[in-house]
Amino acid sequence: MSLAGRDLVTISDLSNEEMEGIFGLADEMARHARGIVGLGAGKVMATLFYEASTRTRLSFESAMQRLGGGVITCADMGTTSVAKGETLADTVRVVESYADILVMRSPQEGAARVAADYARVPVINAGDGAHEHPTQTLLDLYTIRRESGRLQGCWVALVGDLKYGRTTHSLAVALARFGGSMVCVAPPGLEMPAEVLAAVEAHTGSRPRQYRNLEELTGDLDLLKAHSPQASQPKLAFGPMSLFDAIYVTRVQRERFTDPAQYEKAKGAYRITADLLANARSDTLVMHPLPRVDELDYGLDEDLRAAYFRQASYGIPVRMALLAALLGRAEVALGAGSRPPTAPRPVPGNGLACSNPRCVLRSEWYLSPRFELVGDEPVRCAYCQRLAEVPV
Ligand code: NCD
Repeated sequence: MSLAGRDLVTISDLSNEEMEGIFGLADEMARHARGIVGLGAGKVMATLFYEASTRTRLSFESAMQRLGGGVITCADMGTTSVAKGETLADTVRVVESYADILVMRSPQEGAARVAADYARVPVINAGDGAHEHPTQTLLDLYTIRRESGRLQGCWVALVGDLKYGRTTHSLAVALARFGGSMVCVAPPGLEMPAEVLAAVEAHTGSRPRQYRNLEELTGDLDLLKAHSPQASQPKLAFGPMSLFDAIYVTRVQRERFTDPAQYEKAKGAYRITADLLANARSDTLVMHPLPRVDELDYGLDEDLRAAYFRQASYGIPVRMALLAALLGRAEVALGAGSRPPTAPRPVPGNGLACSNPRCVLRSEWYLSPRFELVGDEPVRCAYCQRLAEVPV
């Protein structure tokens, strides 16, 4: 099946089967990562990064070069016409004539949606504010699938700044769709947003358990009893940490705080240490999208369960596979009975509002509010996907 010409703005733009197809292609890329020079030949990828990045940008650029394609980029978007007041819509309408695919990162939530609406070439969201980071989720799922052997039935503890940590938003929804389960551990004020919990619930039928700190999680013996009825006593003795296939940690996203005092309160609130892992299984993965600040003890790095650097390295085969697929240079194999992703349905916006101060609607003046819903989920802003509100 060809994914040629498609955008990847949110993780909902890909069906489970399409993701599996990309993972299969990534397996092939991983076997020949240094040798598949033909697939990208004659194609150019533009990276438009309005926010800091190391891994995402370099791995996209490396992936495109390893496919034999070309890369154009701006070292600093502050030096582009944006500084002269150019709109996002105009920027992408120009860059699309220089490149065959755009990879974009922005602090504005919904910016990638706008770019995809205006560009005629595929747009990949490399992170839009605190909204989503779907390609990180592809490599996160690839890591779990490759190292734990399964997505269906896997258990993940999401730990950290779940409010602003965009990677956890895309990941939570994807895990739910693949039949995985999760718990959320976040300091007060940094809990998982309502729209993500609603999307998880729409797929699993229940909301994940929430904890304010790691101590609360490790003390919740009911969790293990409720979810592993056949658990033997020795396993119970290890406590709830023995439930998890992966502990997925994020840093406190300092740059998103408007109140520095709130950041000061949240920083250092959680830390994964060897002591915590002493109660985890020998095959539990410790994952992190990186960069880390102080939430992963350096003492863990030699532990084979510390998967974060391997996880980052999978960004190459996964992004090679994605680029080759969206450029129409590789087909993804889909199983029988596979369905396309569920398309959102537009909803009349009368009387609705998006209250998100970081929504792209606030900065790109030519946009009009748009609302949509997917399946049984509540009505959301079509850009930043924050739940719609009825202003009083
Ligand atoms: C993440 C991001 O940018 O959202 N990094 C990444 O892409 N690997 C996580 C983070 O910045 O904390």
